Amino acid sequence: NATVGGMDAYRAMCKAAEQDYEGFWARLADENLSWSKPYSKVLDESNAPFYKWFTGGELNVSANCLDKNVANGLGSKTAIVFEADDGKVTNVSYSDLLAKVSRIANGLKSLGVKKGDRVVIYMPMSVEGIAAMQACARIGATHSVVFGGFSAKSLQERIVDVGACAVFTADQQVRGGKQLPLKNIVDEALAMGGCEAVKNVIVYKRTGQGAEMQAGRDVYLEDLVAKQSDQCEPTIVDSEHPLFVLYTSGSTGKPKGVQHSSAGYLLWAMLTMKWTFDIKPNDVFWCTADIGWITGHTYITYGPLAVGATQIVFEGVPTYPNAGRFWEMIQRHKATIFYTAPTAIRSLIKASEADEKVHPKSYDLSSLRLLGSVGEPINPEAWMWYYKNVGHEKCPIVDTFWQTETGGHMITPLPGATTLVPGSCTLPLPGIMAAVVDEVGGDLPDGQGGILVVKRPWPSMIRTIWGDPERFKKSYFPEELGGKLYLAGDGAVRDKDNGNFTIMGRIDDVLNVSGHRMGTMEIESSLVANEMVAEAAVVGRPDDLTGEAIVAYVVLKGARPDGEQAKEIANSL
Ligand code: PRX
Repeated sequence: NATVGGMDAYRAMCKAAEQDYEGFWARLADENLSWSKPYSKVLDESNAPFYKWFTGGELNVSANCLDKNVANGLGSKTAIVFEADDGKVTNVSYSDLLAKVSRIANGLKSLGVKKGDRVVIYMPMSVEGIAAMQACARIGATHSVVFGGFSAKSLQERIVDVGACAVFTADQQVRGGKQLPLKNIVDEALAMGGCEAVKNVIVYKRTGQGAEMQAGRDVYLEDLVAKQSDQCEPTIVDSEHPLFVLYTSGSTGKPKGVQHSSAGYLLWAMLTMKWTFDIKPNDVFWCTADIGWITGHTYITYGPLAVGATQIVFEGVPTYPNAGRFWEMIQRHKATIFYTAPTAIRSLIKASEADEKVHPKSYDLSSLRLLGSVGEPINPEAWMWYYKNVGHEKCPIVDTFWQTETGGHMITPLPGATTLVPGSCTLPLPGIMAAVVDEVGGDLPDGQGGILVVKRPWPSMIRTIWGDPERFKKSYFPEELGGKLYLAGDGAVRDKDNGNFTIMGRIDDVLNVSGHRMGTMEIESSLVANEMVAEAAVVGRPDDLTGEAIVAYVVLKGARPDGEQAKEIANSL
């Protein structure tokens, strides 16, 4: 009795979407979202490709994730089981989280942050990081999370591009037993110039070792919220209000600020939690992504909370203190749904071959009922290992194809409905009109490889590239394809017999290393920024562990006899 009850139910949903597209989405929006003001139009295509969904409607995303669940009697239900790098576990209930988010939201207001302002979040995996995102949503500020592994330069570029007025960070980040001073990196980024709009840096004390604080600008999160009320009236925003901007690599040098909406984005986060993950009240959901990536936005901060689920949030890395950490955590917290990346699986296969103690068979994984994969193609060998050793041949694997730009899953098996095929993400979700076309946008027959597109707008799609609508149009709705098809940037083929999709990799200059997108031009420009380098060219090479590896060809301005330059240049990135 999965949420989508079987192949017939799936087909009926697809048909309903085809017959009455707006009616299909209207029904789902009415069932899932709590509106402050009802919308007047489902889909506004008058300014295509700048589509608008649920226009006239008003809501607050944080109220839909927290207040709604508390009002529905889930206040004492555990929202987050947080496990720190060192193994310390903290449970946070829906009421606790609402209070925490409200305090931070009030703290932001006390600093003068208001609706429409942009706030950068450069934080470790933490309850505070999630709460900071939700607090922005609560006051209508647009957040832009920057992955804690990014350099000062990358951080500065994003702060400047998005025009942030405040930055959240932590004194330190702790991963794999090692500490990294995050606040120092923020200071370095702000000192690079162009960040004058940043009025405050809010510092979460992760280790308590503290950081250098600049008077008037920097404040500890603990001090900011100490005097704040735990009640904060949510700021009601328009359906299309930008909930967040998340930067991702494109095929040209500058990263793209992918802008997402409030209502449409949240709707799809909820629907995919239900359809793809078949989420039920007693599930313990675990998505291993970082909040710095889209997977962490949709399947940690928003989706699981909006559907009132209990989820595990993990601070550390899969290999610390040993490569059995994931399996041990599934056993400890009785996870029922586990969602991770092929790279993690491949590295854990290797580790478990070398040491039986960290093999999944050494743990009790019987709580699991569903497995997921995301971010890159999963090779059939890794799929089979995951299916047999982690899922004990009883858990379906949802191989979810999607992108930062799509906001949520697009093509994926549905548990209990779709016949699984290792290496294929199978069929598009109901309402998602995915297709394979040639280079002028013409439909290709099944069995013939081509360009993956989506033919109709969907609620959680990218709205624009922050500050660059022209680039948005050119990148995603190119004239070459007729200007109406969403170009995913991947090659794909559909199976002749069952219409299943297989993703064949990027068709542009974007590499996918361990599920992380990197533009070759972006890496090339960082290389030539090094004073030793005259010219650089970057290509991808297949890699057993990371899927793809980066190979850089570099022309030096002058070679030193010690032969150490390659290492130094690589380290400088
Ligand atoms: O090439 C596809 C690959 O990852 C790209 C999107 O990367 P990003 O925006 O960072 O989002 C990653 C998390 C959703 C896609 O264009 N990709 C993602 N999922 C899959 C995949 N390739 C094959 N199979 C997947 N399941």
